Amino acid sequence: MSVGIDAIAFSVPQFYLDMEELAKIRGVDPLKFTKGLGQREMAVATPCEDSVVLAVNAARNLVAHFEVNPDEIGLVIVGTETSVDQSKPISVYVHEQLQLSPNCRAFETKHACYGAMAGVAMATDWILSGRANGKKALIIATDIARYGAHTPGEPTQGAGAVAMLIDKNPRLLEFEVEKQGYYSKQVMDFWRPNYSKEAFADGHYSIQCYLESLAGAYNMYRETAGREELSACLYHSPFVKMAQKAHVRLVELQGENDFAEKSPELAAAVRDYANRVAPYLEINARVGNIYTGSLFLSLINLLEDGLPTGASPRISLFSYGSGCMAEFWTGLVMPEAQRWMKRHPFRQSLDQRAKLSIPQYENILEAAGQADKEGSEEICNPSRWGIHDGFLYLGNRNHQRIYQNLLSTSSTKPLAALSAP
Ligand code: HMG
Repeated sequence: MSVGIDAIAFSVPQFYLDMEELAKIRGVDPLKFTKGLGQREMAVATPCEDSVVLAVNAARNLVAHFEVNPDEIGLVIVGTETSVDQSKPISVYVHEQLQLSPNCRAFETKHACYGAMAGVAMATDWILSGRANGKKALIIATDIARYGAHTPGEPTQGAGAVAMLIDKNPRLLEFEVEKQGYYSKQVMDFWRPNYSKEAFADGHYSIQCYLESLAGAYNMYRETAGREELSACLYHSPFVKMAQKAHVRLVELQGENDFAEKSPELAAAVRDYANRVAPYLEINARVGNIYTGSLFLSLINLLEDGLPTGASPRISLFSYGSGCMAEFWTGLVMPEAQRWMKRHPFRQSLDQRAKLSIPQYENILEAAGQADKEGSEEICNPSRWGIHDGFLYLGNRNHQRIYQNLLSTSSTKPLAALSAP
C-alpha cells in the first residue's frame, strides 16, 4: 500500500521582524544573522496568536486548499513543545474548530522539534496496519520558539504551524516506508522547564548533538536502503545555516570520508548544498524556527516550487528533536504535487504580514509572560495588538482559555495602537 502526505498547509502570525534591524539594535554585524545564520525575517506571535490559534489556522488552510472532507479524518495528532495546558491537548481545540466526527482519536505529542514527526510516523503505521478503515490522519506541528531578548538564541526564534494529512495513495509525497533510520540519546542540549516561557540552550553543543544524531539515523537508514540518489535533501532547520552544516555532514557520511577545512571536497559539498538544499529554504529564512514544523516548511517550499525538470522524485527528510531523537526518511514526490500546491502560494501568505519595530517586538516578548495567566484578557485584547479578525486567543478567565472567531470589515493594521503591558 502507498502511504504519505496527501495535503499540507501552514499558518504564520500576522507580524514579523526584519533580521538586519534586530542585528543593528543588538550591536551585531547584520551579516552574522543574514549570512552566518541565514535568516532574513522572523515571525513574531502576539499574545492573541498562541499555539492553538496557529494550529487551527493551518488545519483550516489545509481543509480549504485541498478540499478535504472533515468527516474522513479519524485521527488528529498535534506535535508541539508550546503546550497551553499540562492536561488538555491542543488537538481537542482543532477537533472542535474543524467540527470533526466525535469518533475520532485526538491527542498531543511532545519530543522537542521531533514531536510532529513522531505523529507522522504513528499515523503512517496506523494506515499501513489496516486499522484506519479508510480514514485519514491530520498531523499538526505548532510552536512558538522563544529564547528571549539579548540571548544568543534570539535570532533563531520564530512561530508558526504546519498541518499535514496522511493518507493512502497520497497526492503530494509517498513515503518509502521500508527505508527508515532513527536515533535516540539523552543529551542536555536544549530544554524548557515548566516554569519558563523561554527555552534554554547549550547552543554550540546542540549543533554537535544534531550532527551526531544525523549520523546515527542516516547510518541506520543506509543499512535498510543502501546509498540512494536524492534529488533534494530536507532538514530540520532551526536556522538556515544549520541545514548547510547538516548537508555537508550527510555528504561526508555518504562518502565515508570526513572533509578537511578548505578542502576541495568541502567546497564541492557546499556547492551541492546550493543545488539540493538551499532552493527549498526560503520560507525558513522568512519565518525562523518553528520547532516541530520547521522541516515541513521546507517540504512546502519544495512541493510548491517543484524539483528540477527531469530529476528523480526521491527526496530525503531529516527530523531532529533536542534531548534527543532523530529520524531519516525518504519519499517520492508525486507527479501532480506542484499543481495541487499552487492553490496555496506561500509567498503570498508571507508578503501579507506586517513588519514590527524593535520596541513593538520587545513589548510582545514582555507581554507573552502574562498571556497565559488568570485575568489576561486585557493583555490578549486583539485590538491592543492591531488585530481585528480571525480565530484568536482572548485571554484566561476563571482559569479557562477563551477562543473566538472574530469577524471584522477592517483589515489588519500594523501595531499602531501597541502600548507597553
Ligand atoms: P552564536 O554564538 O551567537 O553565533 O550562536 P556564532 O558565533 O556561532 O555565529 C554563528 C555563525 O555566524 C557562524 O557561522 C559565524 O562564523 C557566523 P559558522 O562558523 O557556524 O558557519 N558569523 C558571521 N558570518 C558573516 N559575517 C559576520 C559573522 N559573524 C559571525 N560578521 C547559535 C549561534 C545557533 C548557537 C545560537 O543562536 C543558539 O544557541 N540558537 C539556539 C539553539 C539552536 O538553534 N541549535 C541548533 C541545533 S539544535 C536544534 O535544531 C533543536 C532546536 O530546534 C530545538 C528543538 O529540538 O526543540 C533548537
